[in-house]
Amino acid sequence: MCHASFFVLLIVTSAFSEAFKILVVSPMPARSHSILGDGLIKHLSKAGHEITYITAVPHEKPIAGVKEIDVSSNFQLLPESALSLKSILDKQVNADSLTELIKYMAIIAETTLEHSSVQKFLQEPTQNFDVIIAEWMMYDLYIGLSALYRCPFIWFSSIDPHWRILRLIHEIPNPAYVPDIISSNMPPFSFTQRLQELGLQIVQLLLEHFLVKPRENEAYQRILMPIIRKRGYPEPNFEELRYNASLILGNSHESLGKTIALPANYISIGGYHIDSNVKPLPEDLKKIMDNAKNGVIYFSMGSNLKSKMMPDELKQNLLKMFGSLKQTVLWKFEEDFPNTPKNVHILKWAPQQSILNHPNCIVFITHGGLLSTTETIHFAKPIIGIPVFGDQFSNIDRAVAKGFAKRVDLSYTMADGIKNAIDDILEDPKYAARVKELSFIYHNRPIEPGKNLVHWVEFVVKTGGARHLRSPVIDLPLYKKMFLDLIFIILVLLYIIKISISIAFKKIFGKSKPLKKLEQKKQN
Ligand SMILES: *[C@@H]1O[C@H](CO)[C@@H](O)[C@H](O)[C@H]1NC(C)=O
Repeated sequence: MCHASFFVLLIVTSAFSEAFKILVVSPMPARSHSILGDGLIKHLSKAGHEITYITAVPHEKPIAGVKEIDVSSNFQLLPESALSLKSILDKQVNADSLTELIKYMAIIAETTLEHSSVQKFLQEPTQNFDVIIAEWMMYDLYIGLSALYRCPFIWFSSIDPHWRILRLIHEIPNPAYVPDIISSNMPPFSFTQRLQELGLQIVQLLLEHFLVKPRENEAYQRILMPIIRKRGYPEPNFEELRYNASLILGNSHESLGKTIALPANYISIGGYHIDSNVKPLPEDLKKIMDNAKNGVIYFSMGSNLKSKMMPDELKQNLLKMFGSLKQTVLWKFEEDFPNTPKNVHILKWAPQQSILNHPNCIVFITHGGLLSTTETIHFAKPIIGIPVFGDQFSNIDRAVAKGFAKRVDLSYTMADGIKNAIDDILEDPKYAARVKELSFIYHNRPIEPGKNLVHWVEFVVKTGGARHLRSPVIDLPLYKKMFLDLIFIILVLLYIIKISISIAFKKIFGKSKPLKKLEQKKQN
């Protein structure tokens, strides 16, 4: 009997392993996030799966096996001024405001699900999926889709593991040694740092409780529930769904981030977006890099922040400083410069990975977005970081603490700071040595991250949601986890003992008291 059922299982799984229907939700209006989304669909479609991809950066040429739903209108949700270097330099936008950030993420998620193309697709009555993968960005709404398609759900996280996401599959890690999502602190913490971490956690838990959760609930009821109802499916409330993800795929790795104990259903796939075969450089660029006897310095502020929004004064300072170097400088910049110095080359479009892969590239000057810091370790290049907003500060601070980076703060006079940092990194071999060490750790894995991600997605489908990996703490009420029941019993016991003792005291010595009083009265 056992053999027979095993045989049936084998047939079922081998039939299943052909192609799965996968919904990938990655609608952030940001180039770096879409690169990560593209990485997911690239590996999954190559493995033969059939993918529907909700993206803000659709491809011009269709990819085999991928149907794209275009939500590029999400780019209109963020005013361009919010991302201009000048307004950040002049402190016109508060780039760090947490509530603003969460609100922005909530709007993106809701707008995406309400987008006419997405609505049309969600309303298709026969549409079904084997698994959903959605990018987590401060807002849990997408897990509502798992009730619509009644299939397992996987969160994708673009950044290092942090308590806000780990609480969805396990529990909140201890802030005494695990930094917050927006924190730059590196453990071991000082006393004040521990207080900061605890404070950040408490503030966010309050925000979540009073602001985020009610909003998520409302959005789920308003946007998804009617479609679920129309299908005649069970209507779970959002709190049941919130903690029901099968897995987190994390764009992280120990070599890149901090050390943290992770639950069994957190899978690190950091670096999966980087092709193992780096594309060759274009001929002209290859010639420039091959001939750079003193090495190449590559300067790029990423794809979100356009250097052309940089104020003129700063541009001229940087140009003058770069011109004074003996190294060759590649500057990713979207507009032409009159009179660029001989050693400075402006690239309107830069094949970043191919540039970093060139042996003559010796320093990378970056805003420190997560993709850039990953690529830095992948290609083993020391960096100078100029963080601008969001997680870039903690990415760069971590790189500095790990010993392969210098941080320069964004300012009108940062050219001098960059010059000093370049001198430091080129004169002291420890930076290059340290990044090589980390790169060794990064590359030494039992399985390539792209293959790992495909394995785990298929695994979740084949096991009907990988329930065996589910952390028991998810279903444990707080009082049990904190042994509050035991503490209560102990308190009650102590109280009973105290009462008993005092009763016993009264019984034993109770009689003597009136005696004493009597004696006293007698003496009087
Ligand atoms: C939670 O996920 C599992 C596996 O994917 C599924 O069987 C179950 O119905 C889900 N629970 C709810 C409340 O949707």
